[in-house]
Amino acid sequence: QREKEVATIKELLRAFPDFPQKGIVFQDIFPIFQDPAAVKLLITHFERYCEEHLSKVDVVVGLDARGFLLGPMLACQLGAAFVPVRKQGKLPGPCISAQYTKEYGTDHFDMQLGAIQPNQNVIILDDLIATGGSASAAAELVKQSGGNILSFLFIIELITLDGAKQLPAPVYSMLQF
Ligand code: ADE
Repeated sequence: QREKEVATIKELLRAFPDFPQKGIVFQDIFPIFQDPAAVKLLITHFERYCEEHLSKVDVVVGLDARGFLLGPMLACQLGAAFVPVRKQGKLPGPCISAQYTKEYGTDHFDMQLGAIQPNQNVIILDDLIATGGSASAAAELVKQSGGNILSFLFIIELITLDGAKQLPAPVYSMLQF
C-alpha cells in the first residue's frame, strides 16, 4: 500500500532542469494539486506516518511557501494547530527570526512570538529538503519557542545534498532523488 502511494505521487511530479537557475533540477509538486485523490492520498500518507511513529502532535509548522499547501490539511487531520514560518517581513506583530542558506541563495525566516508554547510537540513540514538550510532555521525558531521537535516531514528528499544529517530530529521523506 505504501509503495503504491509513493509511486502515485512520484508519477505526478515534474522535473524542470535549470530552474530557477542553471544546474538546479527543480522538482515541481503542483501537478499533485490537480488531482484531489492524490492530495488526499498524500495527506493520509503523512497522517499515518505520524500516528504510527510519533507521539501526539500539537503543532504542524509549515515552511513558506509550499509547506503552506500541505500544513493546514495535515494539521486539520491530526487535530493539531498550524503555525507558518514565513520569509522575513511578511508576518505582523512581534516575531523571532533565523537566517539560512538554501540550494540557491540566502534568506531569513520569521515566526510569530508565542505561536508555539513551551513543551508542545511539533512537526516541521515542507515539500522538499535540499541542503536542509530552511528546515534547520525553522527548527531554531521552534527551539527558541521551547517546542519539542518530533520529526521533519517532506515529500521529496534530495539525498545527494545530505540535508537531513544537520537536522535535530528524525527525517521522514516519501521520495528520494
Ligand atoms: N527547493 C530547493 N531546491 C529545490 C529543487 N531542486 N526543486 C524544488 N524546490 C527546491
